[in-house]
Amino acid sequence: MATEGNASTDNGRKKVGLAPRLDNGFYGQDIISVSQFTRENLEYIFGIAEEMRAIVKRVGSTDLLKGTVLACLFYEPSTRTSSSFIAAMSRLGGTVIPITQGVQFSSVSKGESLPDTIRTLESYADVMVIRHPEMGSAQIAADYARKPIINGGDGVGEHPTQALLDLFTIKEELGRVDGLDIGMVGDLRYGRTVHSLARLLCLYDIRFNFVSPEILRLPLDVMNGIRKRGLPVTETYDVADIISDVDVLYVTRVQKERFADLAQYEEVRGLYVITPELMGQAKEKMIVMHPLPRVGEISYGVDSDPRAAYFRQMENGMYIRMALLAAVLGKA
Ligand code: NCD
Repeated sequence: MATEGNASTDNGRKKVGLAPRLDNGFYGQDIISVSQFTRENLEYIFGIAEEMRAIVKRVGSTDLLKGTVLACLFYEPSTRTSSSFIAAMSRLGGTVIPITQGVQFSSVSKGESLPDTIRTLESYADVMVIRHPEMGSAQIAADYARKPIINGGDGVGEHPTQALLDLFTIKEELGRVDGLDIGMVGDLRYGRTVHSLARLLCLYDIRFNFVSPEILRLPLDVMNGIRKRGLPVTETYDVADIISDVDVLYVTRVQKERFADLAQYEEVRGLYVITPELMGQAKEKMIVMHPLPRVGEISYGVDSDPRAAYFRQMENGMYIRMALLAAVLGKA
């Protein structure tokens, strides 16, 4: 959301810099980065998400957002993020403009710029979710828009709503966050869900255990944030080094679409596979998470293990997105 009175003349861009922290509430705010959140903000959203779950389980839907419109603008493929936002809005009684089946069917394919597309959609909608391949694109959209923008993934940057649902899942499953040992496995370099979750977890007292090949190590800025907080970190190549220590094993897909050199991708694909045998070494009370889609990182044999939390995690996404939509539209 652009701030009035702060306008530059950059072709209509109301430059506001980074999205502000959510200290004064969510109403009318953009959700661009997890760095906007405090622990209090998270508790607030998690509390609403629990209420949303209760409503959905009891009666399926409510008319809290009746008469409001969400525009979903997805320049990259999506199953869970787009459909959970659409389901969230529908269950709250609102409606959706779904530009999710490929922007090739919108005027983007005619060469329309991101700012013009945003200006168009905001004249019809009350809030917008955008997913785009370029890091920083959600912030650019927010700089132009007068209505709230929610970042649904900006390239290798962030995926804040995923991090919220991930953290919510950890709390729901294990009852706490402080004191946990968190293992993150796979593509830590390009995985935006990892970047957002690792940053968000810095609000808590946890131990990080990163597992990746050398070329997919966590970006320096995320690592520096962790070190600045003074949280303990280990880095290894082998998941067997950490599997018996962790309370959360957060597994990720190697992000093939981010590789400039596909030969490099071939070198690291299929490096990590969580199997029932490997799960034999894990704690009895731990959880395996994955933002999904998985492309072989968790074998299907793990699905029936009660510690496999990834499908419950996925469902939580709808409750979290219901909570966020209600909050930014001032109806929570
Ligand atoms: C993730 C994404 O798009 O970053 N998917 C999701 O939103 N659940 C993870 C991925 O694509 O690997």
